[in-house]
Amino acid sequence: MAYLQHLQDPIELGSLLLKNRVVLASLTRNRAGPNRTPGPVNVEYYVQRSSAGLLISEGTIISELGLNAPNAPGIFTSGQIEGWSMVTKAVHAAGTKIFCQLWHVGRTAHPGMDPLGQPTVSPSGIGARGGKFRALPGQPGYIEHPEIIQNPWDFVGLFEQAAKNARDAGFDGVEIHGANGYLVHQFLESHSNVRTDEWGGSAEKRAKFAIEVVKAAIRGFGGDPKRVGIKLSPGGGYNDMGDPESILMEEYSYLISELNDLDIGFIELYRYSNQFDPLGRGTPVDVVERFQHLIKKPLRMVNGVYSGEEGNEAVGNGTADLVSYGTPFIGNPDLPYRFFNNLPVFTDFTVAIWYGPRPGHPITDGYTDFKTHHESIAREG
Ligand code: PHB
Repeated sequence: MAYLQHLQDPIELGSLLLKNRVVLASLTRNRAGPNRTPGPVNVEYYVQRSSAGLLISEGTIISELGLNAPNAPGIFTSGQIEGWSMVTKAVHAAGTKIFCQLWHVGRTAHPGMDPLGQPTVSPSGIGARGGKFRALPGQPGYIEHPEIIQNPWDFVGLFEQAAKNARDAGFDGVEIHGANGYLVHQFLESHSNVRTDEWGGSAEKRAKFAIEVVKAAIRGFGGDPKRVGIKLSPGGGYNDMGDPESILMEEYSYLISELNDLDIGFIELYRYSNQFDPLGRGTPVDVVERFQHLIKKPLRMVNGVYSGEEGNEAVGNGTADLVSYGTPFIGNPDLPYRFFNNLPVFTDFTVAIWYGPRPGHPITDGYTDFKTHHESIAREG
């Protein structure tokens, strides 16, 4: 029997046939240039990883905002749509599918980094404690008093337009970034959203933003709900998130039941890891055990430091349909091939290349210059 057989089984995502269960998770790599426009090097990066059954793009911002990742891509200009079209065309030619992860960072933006000088926005004017703008020298923390969003529908509209743009760029679908302390997540939790209007005040009302964004993405992408997924990180402490367990249970049980009704393509659950909880703010619940069984119709994707064996077991025992891998895909462009053939997975790379090349190195450094198993054997031999 072939190795990690369960991960090799094809699966249908609505009308799309995914050739296996291994997914490239969204990874911020900061190599789209100051215009936030994908080019040939980004085409190569995604094509190199196209043996996965599904690729999820790096977080892609839906409008100009003070994102503290100067070279992360966007999907709000015609140039960006054109750049992404080159990526999607090449990925399709290489035989796989690709979703665009739609990202708004809300209170973790820096107004000084927005070329339009727009203020940093948030559900309730509550800043994220302890943040560090990676791209700015020194220690400016996140904005203490971000502006309160007056009309959340304006932001729902940005997601709808971004989904339209993603469709125009040839993506197969979109994933809403609802995790890791960004805007959708900020609306969901009770400490970052204390609104008293229809967008806050109870678990149901706090979930409204996520639900309306998902509906808008479905509309924007053309009406098929299977072309929309969402990433959630219940209990994750990144960017100063962290509701108590009983509130988390209410929030995510309600949200997941609504997402079942909307019949979306998948829910990607990031399981708690202290790697992503520098302040110890999170609530380390067993996300898979607590929430996975509530997901009825969407495919269940799990994420968060899974090994090949563990991912295979999750699919084999029916707790997951898909497994997304982030950091293992950085240094192993042919990760599925390595998994399926029981070959070593390369882990010996420096964190310094995650968010950009090392100073003085070309853009390809730590990005497209990792070898496949075959290439590394040829090089050694
Ligand atoms: C990061 O830049 O550290 C980052 C971005 C998006 C995520 C998580 C982490 O979802």
